[in-house]
Amino acid sequence: MLRAPERRDRAAFVELLSSPEVHTYLGGPRSRDELQRELPEVPEQWPGSLVVELDGAMIGHVLLRRATGHRRPAAAGKADLGYLFLPQAWGSGYATEACAAALGWLSDALPGEPVVLTTQSANTASMRLAAKLGFTEVERFEAWGAEQWLGVRRAPVTSA
Ligand SMILES: CC(C)(COP(=O)(O)OP(=O)(O)OC[C@H]1O[C@@H](n2cnc3c(N)ncnc32)[C@H](O)[C@@H]1OP(=O)(O)O)[C@@H](O)C(=O)NCCC(=O)NCCS
Repeated sequence: MLRAPERRDRAAFVELLSSPEVHTYLGGPRSRDELQRELPEVPEQWPGSLVVELDGAMIGHVLLRRATGHRRPAAAGKADLGYLFLPQAWGSGYATEACAAALGWLSDALPGEPVVLTTQSANTASMRLAAKLGFTEVERFEAWGAEQWLGVRRAPVTSA
């Protein structure tokens, strides 16, 4: 299930954002203590922030937002997809299913809207996920000390 974040997700957000495994290709985790202190009662509450719930518990976070400050002109201002899942939920297809549903929701809301995605090219699980979701390469660039992959997913052309 995809839904807005709630108060009961706070512990899972602390888990997700402090996990070294989750942040291997994301510049490192935040400290658990700092998160416990600083996360709001309902974390990540903004339009396009989607909690992925399985059997009543949060397993991941899907993010759809405007890449207003993106450093690459090809991505600036476009809808941008991000995803983070708890390691115990990896390898079962949940990220593919959740992201495909989020993209379907976006294309219903904003027909024809392209979506961009940036990931480290060394992040093979994320690269496989991007390909499965229909993203194709725009360019690679160096940032944050690593090669980054910028992909785009163009909305399918529909005839009336
Ligand atoms: C990126 C990330 C979400 C990918 O997670 P994932 O578990 O590999 O992706 P999925 O949930 O779609 O699972 C796909 C895997 O499940 C397997 N799988 C098992 N059962 C499946 C099923 N019923 N349907 C689909 N896939 C299934 C697939 O074969 C695939 O494994 P493979 O990659 O070894 O071939 C995860 O690695 C993550 O959260 N990483 C940390 C955060 C991060 O780096 N995010 C990127 C920011 S841009």
